[in-house]
Amino acid sequence: MEINSIFRRVLLFFIAFQLGCQQISCTVTYDGKALIINGQRRILISGSIHYPRSTPEMWEDIIIKAKEGGLDVIETYVFWNVHEPSPGIYNFEGRYNLVRFLKTVQKAGLYAHLRIGPYVCAEWNFGGFPVWLKYVSGISFRTDNEPFKRAMQGFTEKIVNLMKSEKLFESQGGPIILSQIENEYGALDKKYGAAGYNYMTWAAQMVVGLRTGVPWIMCKQDDAPDPIINTCNGFYCDAFKPNKPYKPTIWTEAWTGWFSEFGGVVHKRPVQDLAFAVAKFIQKGGSFVNYYMYHGGTNFGRTAGGPFITTSYDYDAPLDEYGLIRQPKYGHLTELHKAIKQCEPALVSGDPTIISLGAHQEAHVYYSTFGHCAAFLANYDTTNTARVLFNKMHHTLQPWSISILPDCRNVVFNTAKVGVQSTRMTMLPTSSEMFSWQTYSEDLTARDEDSAFTTFGLLDQVNITRDASDYLWYTTRVNVGSSESFLRSGGHLQLVVQSTGHALHVFINGQLSGSAFGTRENRRITYKKAIKLHPGSNKISLLSVAMGLSNIGGHYESWETGVLGPVVLYGLDQGKHDLTHAKWSYQVGLKGESKDIVSMNSMSSVEWVQGSLIAQKNQPLIWHKAYFNEPDGEEPLALDMRSMGKGQVWINGQSIGRYWTASANGDCQRCHYVVTYRPTKCQVGCGRPTQRWYHVPRSWLKPTANLLVLFEELGGDPTSISLVKRSMTSVCGDIFEYRTNTTDWHTESYGKTQVIRRPKIRLQCSPGLMISSIKFASFGTPVGTCGTFQRGTCHADTSYDVVSKRCVGKDRCAVAVSNSNFGQDPCPKTLKRLTVEAICALTSKG
Ligand code: GAL
Repeated sequence: MEINSIFRRVLLFFIAFQLGCQQISCTVTYDGKALIINGQRRILISGSIHYPRSTPEMWEDIIIKAKEGGLDVIETYVFWNVHEPSPGIYNFEGRYNLVRFLKTVQKAGLYAHLRIGPYVCAEWNFGGFPVWLKYVSGISFRTDNEPFKRAMQGFTEKIVNLMKSEKLFESQGGPIILSQIENEYGALDKKYGAAGYNYMTWAAQMVVGLRTGVPWIMCKQDDAPDPIINTCNGFYCDAFKPNKPYKPTIWTEAWTGWFSEFGGVVHKRPVQDLAFAVAKFIQKGGSFVNYYMYHGGTNFGRTAGGPFITTSYDYDAPLDEYGLIRQPKYGHLTELHKAIKQCEPALVSGDPTIISLGAHQEAHVYYSTFGHCAAFLANYDTTNTARVLFNKMHHTLQPWSISILPDCRNVVFNTAKVGVQSTRMTMLPTSSEMFSWQTYSEDLTARDEDSAFTTFGLLDQVNITRDASDYLWYTTRVNVGSSESFLRSGGHLQLVVQSTGHALHVFINGQLSGSAFGTRENRRITYKKAIKLHPGSNKISLLSVAMGLSNIGGHYESWETGVLGPVVLYGLDQGKHDLTHAKWSYQVGLKGESKDIVSMNSMSSVEWVQGSLIAQKNQPLIWHKAYFNEPDGEEPLALDMRSMGKGQVWINGQSIGRYWTASANGDCQRCHYVVTYRPTKCQVGCGRPTQRWYHVPRSWLKPTANLLVLFEELGGDPTSISLVKRSMTSVCGDIFEYRTNTTDWHTESYGKTQVIRRPKIRLQCSPGLMISSIKFASFGTPVGTCGTFQRGTCHADTSYDVVSKRCVGKDRCAVAVSNSNFGQDPCPKTLKRLTVEAICALTSKG
């Protein structure tokens, strides 16, 4: 780079810094290396935090934790359906206050990436589209269709104008440095042919015309036209290259875990593999990584996509569903970010020199004109540790790992060596009891069919409900002559109901006959059961339940839901009796919903029954209500719904979402971080409810008499519902001793002298808590993970005493992992570890 141009850049940066961006026009541009902000190429670490998935009261804390975790950018989608619930009627209040969210990001000194979509996928209801959009005349989603393009442009402009009016683009001094249009359209584009291509290029031109002053991206869109940057999403993106050499390499979704569906397992992604993936991307020249999700949060209300996406959108993210730090994921990534940042001057200077260090090992070395040198040493071998020679020094590389050397000499980080503590979070009981239980039965025998709409045949559910409710009743009558022979032989017929999802409850003459459920992969349900009818008129009522509208797939707006038939009765004298085209009456939603009994103001619009809950246990279609006082403390709260079946819950009139305690089916074999990750690799929770706990935001509570209302579809025992607090009950450390004659990550450079830093276990409880006891300590060869540690064949007898003396009664402690600390070497020539689990508890001070 010429001296002149360096001087100009430095000057520009200096002026920007001095004046702030209000006074001068700041710019975000890019080149083949990186985004350029105020004349500076930047390596940027970003994280997805979706504003409606937490409460405004939580935002600042989450964003600050993200900053402390080494993030530069917060990414969010914009969720059209919450902002424009009916055409032209907008909502930017509360959880939907996008401007407040972005200003919180700005206040924290972070940048923002705004993914407007407006198609977002995101496991969000209908992929973010408002359901009314489906009913715009002549519309066809995400293709070269005028009504769709008009609506999409209208919403995109609305958001861009809102951002401009609040001066939120970086070009105006705001935090937004990047925006996205569409989302992973590439695959559809190919399927839709010319119409897809025309739509995609129209979208690109449309947004460039909005003149935001910051670049636009399209993810998974190989042919994104200039100046739009095409970007990568996935578990790994090191093989990705943008479509032009003058575009930077951006990873918009580095999946930190995966989402869950009711009835499925919970997916975990080992941080060693995630860190490996990110380091590999950066070493190959990537300059922007966004963790999807950094904080997943909660699908409150009926915002979950579907069908069957759980209310929790935890995602195994570095900040958990409740906004708490998940260790060791958060801490290990924080260390990674520090290491990458130390390499930034070299990384932005040019392309790497690649040096082979072995059959499966290589170095990527970056040099800057100012003399910086940074290196990434990779071992792709999935089983063997490698010992490599680089820059005249030996380095030990764990399998499937990358070491980072910001000065080309000292390893400051290795992706597979987790040096930070892990924590164990437990849902602890609170003293808060539920009181004044009352019930209200949907009482379907008394449903006024005349108020329903009646027609011949079976209709699509969403066409009728417009998604105003999850529930749609399909009711018909069957007349049984008294001479029917089945009446004399026990009185049973067979009913077969075919439904297109998502859940179905069948009632015969007001009694629940049974239920059937689809899955996310297969929404089709067949309900087949012997039913009992009596002579005369019999009522068959089918309650079809939508569990979140599809958020992914070509033209999913045309997919139908609900009981579409056939519905057939077998066993009458006439033979097969097809009810598909019979007269059906339709009723949208539940009585309790229409009377709004979940809200404080109108809950008395029905007669709640006090009295024995025992009698109401395991009854379907029952509303329950109770009160509770807010538990003390600051820990996040959740409802333990284990004793219930399936339904929805509200607190003080706000919906905390759908619940369902269906057990997780799957394979929960132990997982190891090596070898390419996929969601089925590391699963937990088999045989237990996919989601047992449901987040109750503290800010929704008042000190006393909080109203809990729930609607139970199947039956359960509400008296066992309890409020729990998410608490860090123990912290664990697990670190290998330093091995002589290797120069590895425990070394640090002070000036020119190299100093060996002995590894230490560092433990720290949450604020207000102290280490009350040591549950486990072993210097030797212990096995297991935090919460399940056990002694191995080698163990120093002094382990427990040494650790207890250093740690008990303190809020934090450090213990060196060395023979001298534990008296003598318990097993010479064996590589040992120190493994500790410490219990954190309230202290008299706390
Ligand atoms: C991506 C999509 C995201 C999200 C993710 C899975 O393909 O862009 O919105 O759905 O998959 O969590």
